Amino acid sequence: MAEKTFKYIILGGGVSAGYAAKEFANQGVKPGELAVISKEAVAPYERPALSKGYLFPEGAARLPGFHCCVGSGGEKLLPESYKQKGIELILSTEIVKADLAAKSLVSAAGDVFKYQTLIIATGSTVLRLTDFGVKGADSKNILYLREIDDADKLVEAIKAKKGGKAVVVGGGYIGLELSAALRINNFDVTMVFPEPWCMPRLFTADIAAFYETYYTNKGVKIIKGTVASGFTAHSSGEVKEVQLKDGRTLEADIVIVGVGAKPLTTLFKGQVEEDKGGLKTDAFFKTSVPDVYAVGDVATFPMKMYGDVRRVEHVDHSRKSAEQAVKAIKAAEGGAAVEEYDYLPFFYSRSFDLSWQFYGDNVGDSVLFGDSNPANPTPRFGAYWVQGGKVVGAFMEGGSGDENKALAKVAKARPAAESLDELKNQGITFAAKI
Ligand code: FDA
Ligand code: NAD
Repeated sequence: MAEKTFKYIILGGGVSAGYAAKEFANQGVKPGELAVISKEAVAPYERPALSKGYLFPEGAARLPGFHCCVGSGGEKLLPESYKQKGIELILSTEIVKADLAAKSLVSAAGDVFKYQTLIIATGSTVLRLTDFGVKGADSKNILYLREIDDADKLVEAIKAKKGGKAVVVGGGYIGLELSAALRINNFDVTMVFPEPWCMPRLFTADIAAFYETYYTNKGVKIIKGTVASGFTAHSSGEVKEVQLKDGRTLEADIVIVGVGAKPLTTLFKGQVEEDKGGLKTDAFFKTSVPDVYAVGDVATFPMKMYGDVRRVEHVDHSRKSAEQAVKAIKAAEGGAAVEEYDYLPFFYSRSFDLSWQFYGDNVGDSVLFGDSNPANPTPRFGAYWVQGGKVVGAFMEGGSGDENKALAKVAKARPAAESLDELKNQGITFAAKI
């Protein structure tokens, strides 16, 4: 079994890994100093493409089109770019053991990788219905989406079951983006989720009402307030029906499940301090173990703006936390320091012809502004969240580039608001004035 030693190892080959590698290359690494180890077979790519352009029936996005770091307008690191920059890209290699005291990682094939500094960028994995013991949940064509292999299986199933019936379990990000993608592929789509409205993690009832009506107008059927309690299969093993807890049964050729994700921290259990389900870090993404950093979905970090600690499962943070960690590592080597991470939460989604952005915190009272009529061909509306008399969060569907910048500014500045009525009347003008 081989043993290799590197100055820096990035463990993971997703978004954070790509942005960390780019930052190392910017700062300068000598050939052989840095390795990226990923269980995926492809170089780091912009994961959000998998639930959007990758599933288009025509002109679908494919690698190498969306390797990191094109998502933020940066240089595209093709597999050969890593070599050119002296970075070793070790793909199809799952690390199964991490001994942080010995500064050593062991792969499934038994290879050993030693490091001086480790960046953990293992991201999240999907929650599976089999984890909850749902009967028949291991039937064929019950699919999940996290990595490119999952997306390829989904593309195959879409081809094989052309124009068939799809049931989407979950009403969050995956639920909404995948229901749209399947509908665009001409599937008869039914979405099922337990809450009273979709995306309850972020949306208010008012915001959700717009999306639910828009989706319904596009032909997506929505069943709320219940969950999938079991599945039956054809003799081929392929899923046939979905049983719902409320007693209903739905026919299905494909089932897509998006019931949440969990950070991949098991390799480090008992070795690193944890908080809120993630690896606890400081404002430079340093963990409790010397020379070990954690970035992206796995990191629970200080949210300076709000004076608390959080874990964030979104792409903007995965990029920025990776850059911050590498800058901090390189600065420390030169005896310098970087500014503390001061993150403004930013989430977005796109589906059908829709596109929304959100900045800040969705706490306190909220108010809707603009035209949220789903029948309008170009809907343009938004929402503010107000806590303690200050605007703390801002959302907009269909905003222009400048309007989205204004949302970010208002969420960062947290200006005082006279009243919710005033915000409703002023709408995006309020943010544009900040
Ligand atoms: P990420 O999951 O990207 O990468 C982790 C990597 O580590 C993977 O390559 C994995 O294989 C590897 N790995 C894990 N364990 C390993 C081991 N033991 N050995 C070797 N390798 C290992 N966000 C957003 O803001 N807007 C959006 O539109 C979307 N869209 C979106 C679509 C889909 C389909 C998903 C799944 C997620 C999104 N997201 C998103 C969320 C966003 O993509 C996510 O927050 C980032 O990818 C997190 O980046 P990380 O690098 O932390 O994990
Ligand atoms: P999520 O947390 O956004 O949504 C999960 C949904 O499933 C919730 O509505 C939840 O209540 C529901 N649910 C839970 N148990 C259920 C059950 N038994 N039956 C039916 N519904 C159930 O998670 P997700 O949509 O699975 O996304 C997974 C990960 O991917 C997250 O980290 C997410 O942030 C990320 N992601 C982000 C984007 C984006 O930011 N645009 C897009 C896709 C994925």
